[in-house]
Amino acid sequence: SAERQEGRSKQRLLVVANRLPVSAIRRGDDSWQLEMSVGGLVSALLGVKEFEARWIGWAGVNVPDDIGQKALTTALAEKRCIPVFLDEEIVHQYYNGYCNNILWPLFHYLGLPQEDRLATTRSFQSQFDAYKKANQLFADVVNNIYEEGDVVWCHDYHLMFLPKCLKDYNSNIKVGWFLHTPFPSSEIHRMLPSRSELLRSVLAADLVGFHTYDYARHFVSACTRILGLEGTPEGVEDQGRLTRVAAFPIGIDSDRFIRALELPQVKDHIKELQDRFAGRKVMLGVDRLDMIKGIPQKILAFEKYLEENPNWRDKVVLIQIAVPTRTDVPDYQRLTSQVHEIVGRINGRFGSLTTVPIHHLDRSLEFHALCALYAVTEAWRLIIPCLPGIFSCLDVALVTSLRDGMNLVSYEFVACQDSKKGVLILSEFAGAAQSLGAGAVLVNPWNITEVAASIGYALNMPADEREKRHHHNFMHVTTHTSQEWAATFVSELNDTTVEAQLRTRQ
Ligand code: G6P
Repeated sequence: SAERQEGRSKQRLLVVANRLPVSAIRRGDDSWQLEMSVGGLVSALLGVKEFEARWIGWAGVNVPDDIGQKALTTALAEKRCIPVFLDEEIVHQYYNGYCNNILWPLFHYLGLPQEDRLATTRSFQSQFDAYKKANQLFADVVNNIYEEGDVVWCHDYHLMFLPKCLKDYNSNIKVGWFLHTPFPSSEIHRMLPSRSELLRSVLAADLVGFHTYDYARHFVSACTRILGLEGTPEGVEDQGRLTRVAAFPIGIDSDRFIRALELPQVKDHIKELQDRFAGRKVMLGVDRLDMIKGIPQKILAFEKYLEENPNWRDKVVLIQIAVPTRTDVPDYQRLTSQVHEIVGRINGRFGSLTTVPIHHLDRSLEFHALCALYAVTEAWRLIIPCLPGIFSCLDVALVTSLRDGMNLVSYEFVACQDSKKGVLILSEFAGAAQSLGAGAVLVNPWNITEVAASIGYALNMPADEREKRHHHNFMHVTTHTSQEWAATFVSELNDTTVEAQLRTRQ
């Protein structure tokens, strides 16, 4: 290839995920407007300096015609992205159906859909067939661009079938697979009709990674109990071949957030927010509008707190950013109306002519506005600087996921709170509870009484305790970065294959 001729020195890392890190909009003249997203995986891979990354994934748009597909492929090539084209029917059955109506709720302990929910998206079997077909399409694209020496890193529950498809093409391809959600207890996983086939496909990878040790342990027990294989301290063994299984807790690019706080536009945003909420404490929730995030439970806990603490009713506001997601899936549509109904009721109950206790936004925020919200300094201390001890106001972030693979909102909040030392209330069912547990106030999100009590505890927490808790979290967030996460996974993937082959030869 042209790259080879140019004498490319770096090994290539082919990163395969359902979604490419770009948003693509087709213009009237058939050209494409592309915007690269800089968060998450993209910044993580900046840490993998020895490799040159290529992205393979779905662009999130339906492009039925050849002209459009060619133009998009060419435009994406400049961003080192290679698209996988999925038609509408596949997207419906694979993405809306098998991924988001079956695997996502099951992996988050919300069970399998009842028959009436299945009926709306056709049978389980046809969804699974579409899932396998979609994974095969991803594999075809990878296989087309694969060159000897490339390393392939597959991401998430959308692509559990991919490691097997790739190894079927070429058993020498180095394949890693990482799950960004929880892997549930084997008792939950065994409900899945296609439980064995999925486990076997994942085991075709050389390295399988999870956010926490518990998820890795659940996966190994699913393999031993359901497939009857042998679990070892390093992973799962099948007829002398080892699939290494381990925990690689993800992090964020904390510097990006810390640096952003110095930007004039972020400072301006912060100032606007301070003026807007002067005299009140700000509690913050930022979530995709997803069942797993426990948004209704969080809002009900806030209502309970206001109910029991009338003196706080005009002194605290909850800003809930609820980013719309997967809006074609009926459960997500139901959740949206449920949340609107609860917010409306509470604002009607505790609001006044001039203010409401809950500011609920159904949209995403751009990066700088988000950083400002994460960092917003409490207003009272600025207004009455001589009374800091009496009004020891602070911000609180409320992360009350019912289950969450990791939850990086909690990390982002911590990164932006170094001057504020705000309190993080964190669900014990988020992966982040294992890393930020000592600094956060941990809660069971199902226990609304406990969450309401924790809100009171956080709002009244003495400065020295806040400082100590924040320090613990800040140290963790700034040292366990996304860059380090990616570099560790990829270097272990490189080593693991050698290790596994050695074992086979013994
Ligand atoms: C979770 C998943 C990701 C997914 C993201 C957004 O974090 O683990 O793989 O990309 O949600 O969901 P969406 O369905 O919009 O890609």
